[in-house]
Amino acid sequence: MYEVPLSARVRRAALVRRLALKDPGLEVRLRNGLDAAEKQLLAHAESAEDPRISTLTGHLAAAGGKRVRPLLVLLGAEFGDPWRHGVTQAAVIAELVHVSSLYHDDVMDNAATRHGVSSVNARWGERLAVLAGDLLLAKAARLAAELGPAAISLNAEVAGALVAGQLCELIGPGPGEDAISHYFQVISGKTAALLAMSLRTGAQQAGAPEPVVRSLGQYGEELGLAFQIADDLLDLKASTEQMGKEQGRDLAAGVTSLPVLLALADTTPRGAALRELLSAGPAADPAQQRLALRLFRRSPALAEAEAMMHQRLDRARAALSDLPPLPALRALNLLCDYVADQTG
Ligand code: IPE
Ligand code: IPE
Ligand code: MG
Ligand code: MG
Repeated sequence: MYEVPLSARVRRAALVRRLALKDPGLEVRLRNGLDAAEKQLLAHAESAEDPRISTLTGHLAAAGGKRVRPLLVLLGAEFGDPWRHGVTQAAVIAELVHVSSLYHDDVMDNAATRHGVSSVNARWGERLAVLAGDLLLAKAARLAAELGPAAISLNAEVAGALVAGQLCELIGPGPGEDAISHYFQVISGKTAALLAMSLRTGAQQAGAPEPVVRSLGQYGEELGLAFQIADDLLDLKASTEQMGKEQGRDLAAGVTSLPVLLALADTTPRGAALRELLSAGPAADPAQQRLALRLFRRSPALAEAEAMMHQRLDRARAALSDLPPLPALRALNLLCDYVADQTG
């Protein structure tokens, strides 16, 4: 049985406190809901007849994570009856899908570290990492089947969107396709779809009215786009220790994140050195990477990407305008501030 690392628990509690903003009822419901989901998540992630398989499938869930998606499920459920059976399980499903995507993503990005521990691919190899990720997705599907047709359909929709987003990223833009619109298509699939699904499924399980479910989905989509842009910026700005994953991983893997695309489009003489470095492909050599990170700090690309993130956060807030004035509504607005603060 795994122990959840203390730092992950402390970070999650701080986020809940920040979002609940002195509403003790909401804070307790979110905290208890996350604790219940956490126990079930760890139990499901590591459930397997063979302990060698449970070690693999339990590895990343046990190592931590902010649990943003379970939190979104719980916040979505606040717009109906949050005590309804099915809400906690929906939170577990959302995080299982997320963790599964991390197994696959770390193979794609050849990442060595995740949640402050070795990635599954670094420790056990790519083939086992891909299969263990598939197993987690299958566990999510089985739990969704217990919740009924709406959960099954959302789960299938998001699994498809996630894989399509990652495929689209690997394949790259088609001939003549604008690189920035391609980027948004990618992140809508690989990131935003699951954030939107988490809110929708939480609200659905809690019996919230359909127009509310729809607005929450729109909010989740925009929040998800901003969330991925923030993550792209963090790759260039935050330290490995802060993130629990390596700094500059996107550069090393040749990922065309939004700041990279914007830097490539910067044709001013000031941007020339960075453009030349980025055009050469993945910055495999650590000295090259350090140089690229230094040039990024002086490039307008970071501020431009940040402005695009803020646009999406504004759209997320606008999607909330017709929702009832519950404490959870304030929490969703505060979550936009939290995402913005990540890159500050
Ligand atoms: C990481 O998501 C992958 C992205 C979609 C950007 P999170 O930042 O939510 O991952 P955790 O908290 O480490 O699980
Ligand atoms: C996140 O993409 C999307 C998924 C995990 C599906 P990233 O490649 O940006 O995620 P990190 O930065 O490795 O967490
Ligand atoms: Mg990655
Ligand atoms: Mg990233």
